[in-house]
Amino acid sequence: MQRFQGKSVIVTGSAHGIGEAIARRFAAEGAGVLIADLDEAAAVLTAAEIVAAGGSANAMRVDVKSSDDINAMVAATVETYGKVDVLVNNAGDVTISRHFLESDEAWWDHFIDTNLKSQYLACRAVAPLMAAAGGGCIINMSSGGATRSHRGMVAYDASKGGVEALTRGLALDLAPYGIRVNALVPGLIVTRPEHAEPIADKRRADTVPMGRGGTPQDLAGPAAFLASADAAYMTGSCLVVDGGVLVQQRSPQVETFPPDRFPSISDLA
Ligand SMILES: NC(=O)c1ccc[n+]([C@@H]2O[C@H](COP(=O)([O-])OP(=O)(O)OC[C@H]3O[C@@H](n4cnc5c(N)ncnc54)[C@H](O)[C@@H]3O)[C@@H](O)[C@H]2O)c1
Repeated sequence: MQRFQGKSVIVTGSAHGIGEAIARRFAAEGAGVLIADLDEAAAVLTAAEIVAAGGSANAMRVDVKSSDDINAMVAATVETYGKVDVLVNNAGDVTISRHFLESDEAWWDHFIDTNLKSQYLACRAVAPLMAAAGGGCIINMSSGGATRSHRGMVAYDASKGGVEALTRGLALDLAPYGIRVNALVPGLIVTRPEHAEPIADKRRADTVPMGRGGTPQDLAGPAAFLASADAAYMTGSCLVVDGGVLVQQRSPQVETFPPDRFPSISDLA
């Protein structure tokens, strides 16, 4: 399918992980893609691989916390492709967990600036261009942490709660201009399989109703769907892609009906 032929797409944080898989999918479906990431070397490599595979991509070092970098990112995309059709606000940091009582202001600011303010800055930069062009699509990366808390991650979860509120608010303000704004809500996604420990893998699989951790590619199809004509009447939605984690009411310590008590397929025949 070449659903995005002639479209231009910015994906932040697309040198690795979920953003990389999303950028590769848009490029494979015909879009020109900007790989915008703090890790410039990896961004250049990802863009080169896309081009080598016959796609269109450029790389740029961007710190999404900086409004100057964000403005330069949008200007570079307009210079290359003449417009921005799709913005995927994916860049985020999840790495530093701290108990609230051991936290400080710098920790709070880091997560709010990286995960939330960055999305405001990028939307602020692209929305006037999209409006002048008659419309566009914005996808903000949220997390299950927006509505269910992780231990030791108050700042991360607050930033993602903000992402969902931002998404709804922007959807309202921008709908009259033809700009749709939705969020993706990933579950447990294994972005660097080489770092995954087998024990953690097993524990992860046991807590996910679908029985496995997600892959970055699991987010690529939903992102492409949200940006496609098939989602033309969707705005303000938070699309959950988590193998069933958020619908599950269960304490990890109390398992009243474990999957090994489920009827086997042969029992049902
Ligand atoms: N992996 C998961 O389980 C999971 C779950 C829920 C939500 N998410 C969200 O998905 C998004 C992507 O996460 P991931 O797991 O792919 O992470 P990842 O660490 O694999 O990739 C994140 C990318 O963002 C880049 N980045 C980080 N800070 C940046 C900055 N200031 N400016 C520009 N680029 C920056 C990194 O260099 C990296 O390439 C994040 O917003 C994250 O919160 C991930």
